[in-house]
Amino acid sequence: MMEEKGEEEIKRICREVIERIRPDEEERRKVKAVAETIIAKLNKKASEMGMEVYAISVGSTARNTWISGEADIDVFIMFPEGVSEEELKENGLALAKSISDRYEERYASHPYIHAYFHDAEGRTEYEVDLVPCFSVKAASLLKSAVDRTPFHNEYIVKRISGLEEEVLLLKQFLKCRGIYGSEQRRKGFSGYLCELLSIRYSSFVELLRHASKWKYGERIDIEGRGTYKGAGKDPLIVIDPVDPNRNVAAAVSLDSFCRLIDAARDFLACPDASFFLLAKEKEMSKAEFVKLVKERGTELVMVLFEAPDVVEDVLFPQLRKAEASVKSMIERNGFTVYRSDVSVGGDKAFLVFELLVWCLPEIKRHEGPPVTLKHHSELFKSKYEPFSFGKRKAFTEKKNNSEVLLQRAVRIENGRYVVEVERKYTDVVDLLKHELKSCGSGKQVSESINKGYEVLKNEELMFFEGLGSFFSEFFGFG
Ligand code: UTP
Ligand code: MN
Ligand code: MN
Repeated sequence: MMEEKGEEEIKRICREVIERIRPDEEERRKVKAVAETIIAKLNKKASEMGMEVYAISVGSTARNTWISGEADIDVFIMFPEGVSEEELKENGLALAKSISDRYEERYASHPYIHAYFHDAEGRTEYEVDLVPCFSVKAASLLKSAVDRTPFHNEYIVKRISGLEEEVLLLKQFLKCRGIYGSEQRRKGFSGYLCELLSIRYSSFVELLRHASKWKYGERIDIEGRGTYKGAGKDPLIVIDPVDPNRNVAAAVSLDSFCRLIDAARDFLACPDASFFLLAKEKEMSKAEFVKLVKERGTELVMVLFEAPDVVEDVLFPQLRKAEASVKSMIERNGFTVYRSDVSVGGDKAFLVFELLVWCLPEIKRHEGPPVTLKHHSELFKSKYEPFSFGKRKAFTEKKNNSEVLLQRAVRIENGRYVVEVERKYTDVVDLLKHELKSCGSGKQVSESINKGYEVLKNEELMFFEGLGSFFSEFFGFG
């Protein structure tokens, strides 16, 4: 057991980090001013357009829990519950666009506008999410995926005062471990979850002390009214105080959960300011990559294709689905996958497989029935050794003698027939080039793969933007 270092030391480090990541007065004033301007514009435009809606500020900028320099302003546009989904989408987006100069329309499970706004002096640009939602009676009566957010906001705003710095420490700590954010790509801890954990444990360090002892299936229920059961698969359950049948930590993957546990233990044993510093992204060069693969003695195979034009939260689950089904096809064909991963870089999406076995002999063992099963035995032998049934089917159509020999050599091993057949794919690259399209994945990824893809191995890999840092992380240098 590692001993916890002095409390004083931890406090000193935390104070130092807070000084660095806490927004100063000026930043706060600016962010608030921009948010207020946007809200005023939305409300004014709405009444001009005859819409019965109003805007509210939510998210970390409404709760003073954003990390300095990383403010994104979240504004929700509240529609009456009776409005149809069509109307919400159409009017909500039109209203949001009407006040934005520069924006993108985004869809995950819900349509919204991602816009860019300058502060009054025009010096800083802020990213802004303008999200239409229904103003429902209770969070559990949601009509659209985002209707709980105003309730989350109300809950946190009432309770977070005095704990803002603890939230900042937690967010920065998680960010530096690569596990902040509940997006599908990361599967980590959302901002709201960080705020709830801070409320539950009152301080960052106290949270770490608990996290260092978390067990699989850990359950946190601040209000003690949770009804959420789950299927026994969630590593972490944090009951949503505004919707007791929901797990706020549903997006946290087993590995993200374990990374926090591990980091909590490390920090408590050896507190150090470096836990709050983002690791410099090391870009592995192609030469380093080639050398490393050679030293490892494995084969690195990449399946590369055009990234479909969908948001990451839609893309990543599809890529992981493709990864799983390609992996199982590779293994069904006798090769051995050691590790695999997926990502995007530029306009490309890719799957990567590191193989322990990527090349196999011509022959493949094929097992038949136990000899004692007479009927099955006859079928098997008539297929693989027709001579024994006196049919004397000639093998003239076969390509060469060795194949005839292979196909006729039925032998008995441990009471069963065994025959050797010709292996269809002796090289994994060949397999992928021919059979990839038969693997299941999500809609858009399948469509993209069907339009064309490349299979590259080892030194053939093209080192496009971002691939170097992908591989430093893949090989554990990141
Ligand atoms: P954010 O992802 O911006 O998180 O969502 P945050 O709590 O503000 O934390 P940081 O500091 O920016 O990282 C803000 C709120 O808006 C909701 C989220 O659920 C969250 O409660 N939201 C935002 C949506 O529901 N849908 C969206 O498209 C955008
Ligand atoms: Mn935000
Ligand atoms: Mn946001």
